[in-house]
Amino acid sequence: MTSIGLVQGDITEQEVDAVVNAANSSLLGGGGVDGAIHRRGGPEILAACRELRASRYGKGLPTGQAVATTAGRLPARWVIHTVGPVYSRSEDRSELLASCYRESLRVADELGAATVAFPAVSAGIYGWPVDDAARIAVSTVRATPSRVDEVRFVLFTADVHDAFARALAD
Ligand code: APR
Repeated sequence: MTSIGLVQGDITEQEVDAVVNAANSSLLGGGGVDGAIHRRGGPEILAACRELRASRYGKGLPTGQAVATTAGRLPARWVIHTVGPVYSRSEDRSELLASCYRESLRVADELGAATVAFPAVSAGIYGWPVDDAARIAVSTVRATPSRVDEVRFVLFTADVHDAFARALAD
């Protein structure tokens, strides 16, 4: 049974097997979590992402999918890159956001990762309302069978941490 924990902090400091990156489909870096992971993880991560673009993901990683690379200098073994949906008021993209968590856990199982740290995917630059992002994250992890022992949601700010704490309490 997977245990679910919450931490307020920086995901690049987490000593876990796999750190999930809130990437974009280019896999070539960005701001937020993506920027922090590449900055702290170093050039090996970008080199591995370029490899993926040159081979399996010529058009980029589609929204809702996940793929693993080395974690470079992070205190982790792998980074699992996933692309969250940009929030839309007119179109319900909840399934795509849920897929990020489901697919990241599937990749974690393939890797044999026992501990996985997730950020609040799509809840930053991609504009997803925080309470709904937390609800989808927690309910999807709870509903997804996985061999992962510990899922740790790592939230950068108190407001997002509190939203996840409320979602966990539901
Ligand atoms: N550790 C943990 N959480 C972080 C960190 C960090 N170092 N930095 C930012 N966050 C939080 C944000 O505060 C937000 O709550 O992660 C959540 C997700 O925010 P983003 O990183 O902006 O991710 P997202 O909303 O999915 O947007 C993805 O942003 O960085 C670009 O290349 C990325 O284009 C992609 C887009």
